[in-house]
Amino acid sequence: MIKEGLDGIVTAQSTISLVDGEKGLLVYRGHWAEETAKTKTFEEVTYLLWNNHFPTNAQLTDFQKKMKQQRILTPSDETILGSLPDSMDMMSVIRTVLSSKGNKHFNWSSTIEQGIKITSIIPTIIAYRHRTLNGLDPVKPDPKYDHVANYLYMLNGREPKESHVKALTAYLVLTMEHGMNASTFTARVISSTQSDLVSAVTGAIGAMKGPLHGGAPSGVIDLLQNIGTVENAENHLRHLLEKGEKLMGFGHRVYKTVDPRARALKEITTDLAEDDPWFELANQVERIAIKLLKEYKPGRKLHTNVEFYAAAILKALALPTELFTAIFTMSRVVGWIANVFEQNDNNRIIRPSSLYIGPMPN
Ligand code: COA
Repeated sequence: MIKEGLDGIVTAQSTISLVDGEKGLLVYRGHWAEETAKTKTFEEVTYLLWNNHFPTNAQLTDFQKKMKQQRILTPSDETILGSLPDSMDMMSVIRTVLSSKGNKHFNWSSTIEQGIKITSIIPTIIAYRHRTLNGLDPVKPDPKYDHVANYLYMLNGREPKESHVKALTAYLVLTMEHGMNASTFTARVISSTQSDLVSAVTGAIGAMKGPLHGGAPSGVIDLLQNIGTVENAENHLRHLLEKGEKLMGFGHRVYKTVDPRARALKEITTDLAEDDPWFELANQVERIAIKLLKEYKPGRKLHTNVEFYAAAILKALALPTELFTAIFTMSRVVGWIANVFEQNDNNRIIRPSSLYIGPMPN
């Protein structure tokens, strides 16, 4: 029997993540993803996904040190970045610079050091490209900041707000890994041929770049922007529902209960609402939207999805819409690399079949 899009086909046994859409569960290596997003740093969760346990203090210090060393662009990276046309989109820029790193040291036996090299440099590529494209001087990484704070610092050229670092960390942690999605599968297919880590990651970036996968939460931003103030929310949302429109940021194909990622991000933005009017607006809009969805679409199991709070966070941080998919890549690369390690540990080339339905020669 053919399964279009490999729907429901189990292609690997994995200890990396569990995604249960019916029960609304997301587990990373035996830990609730929600909990890790609220309490751990980007570096700690990366370490967990790659090593199957959280780091000790000494292991974390060593890991952080290595990540800081690898976040600096080489002169050759800068030459490549300087030679790319302005019209090139950010995902293609990341793919191209990473591709140039695939030297002879990258072979099939992928290592944590290689993972660190790839993961650490992505935020620097994004910030460098974004600033130079906008006529601003690039800002060098600052070792006093961790991975996420340093990204905001390099992008904006000023000390990031603690609440912004906390919110972005939670978003990045919650989007690091999500089962056998298209880009993760791509990384595993490439790795299964005994190709190298750079090739697996650049291939995954190609899959992520497609609008059916790394689609940006910009529909939610438009919704929040059009609503503008809490006082407007109910009228605006009622008007959309009466026109038969879908409210962006609600409903999900897989999660038929609360998306655990949305629940965690909501908690974080609620705590931070005093710090930022965007968080407050998002929280109020969500409350009213859920009330109205129950009224207009009873029994349809419509809940807030991760895109809703992702949009609120990215907007509150004034992160430009054109960077959204690239920011998602900053986190998902961690999951890709974890999957490559797992694939390599127990490899069999991934080689499904197709059914020929064309004519036979006479
Ligand atoms: N707002 C209002 N009504 C919604 C809705 C939403 N966000 N999502 C689903 N519904 C309604 C549908 O109109 C349909 O109503 P009906 O039974 O009266 O025809 C019912 O709920 C079931 O919808 P369906 O499209 O079958 O759900 P799905 O599981 O196939 O679709 C999504 C899931 C994500 C495609 C859908 O919920 C959606 O389009 N959401 C808005 C877009 C969004 O947030 N996408 C995420 C990134 S921004």
